[in-house]
Amino acid sequence: MLKRELKVAASLLAADFSRLGEEVVAAEQAGADWLHLDVMDGHFVPPLTFGPLVVAALRPLSGLVFNAHLMISEPQRQVAAFAEAGAHGIIVHREALAEPTPVLEQIRAAGCAAGLAYNPPTSVDDLARWLPHLDMLLVMSVTPGWGGQAFMPSAVDKVRSARQLLDREGLALPIVVDGGLNRATTALMVAAGADVIVAGTFLFRHPGGYVAAVHELRSGGRCC
Ligand code: DX5
Ligand code: ZN
Repeated sequence: MLKRELKVAASLLAADFSRLGEEVVAAEQAGADWLHLDVMDGHFVPPLTFGPLVVAALRPLSGLVFNAHLMISEPQRQVAAFAEAGAHGIIVHREALAEPTPVLEQIRAAGCAAGLAYNPPTSVDDLARWLPHLDMLLVMSVTPGWGGQAFMPSAVDKVRSARQLLDREGLALPIVVDGGLNRATTALMVAAGADVIVAGTFLFRHPGGYVAAVHELRSGGRCC
């Protein structure tokens, strides 16, 4: 198997919301590769966060790849707004969609990378059906809705089976993992086949600062 380059996605949910612009710049300067924007609607998940206006306000401040993680019902209604706001990628949830293909193609037609996210209880057994329409896969390793939760080890096997499928099909689309990631859990997920580590609490609340946090995540990814 090819050695893949680990990417770190800074999850804004754990940043200081009174200084969001500065936080994005600091995450980029610390070496993050992507910015992960957790959009919650109070319906698909209980909390509310922010929408496309915040994405549009932050976008000119940074060269990071912006991915909107839509934890919302009826995501097809919001794709155009997030694309216009400057999102590079839009990730929708398998559980929000009876049939993901139309919205994945809607995302691509809007000029963005199309991502599909799976919650911890949702099997990835149907993943092969969506591969022609997918640019990234996101495996949740916590219940969506909140930062700072404990990593769920069941996500490791899910990443491994998704990786086996992608390798069998000869596909290079990235596997993103989201929730409870620190140095140790990053090591587990990278060994299982993850390409992108979403880090909120570990990065934005790290006592040693953001540079140290990114360095620890990358070293976790190299250790196995
Ligand atoms: C949870 C979000 C995550 C969250 C991860 O619903 O999708 O992106 O920010 O936070 P940590 O890294 O704190 O587990
Ligand atoms: Zn997320």
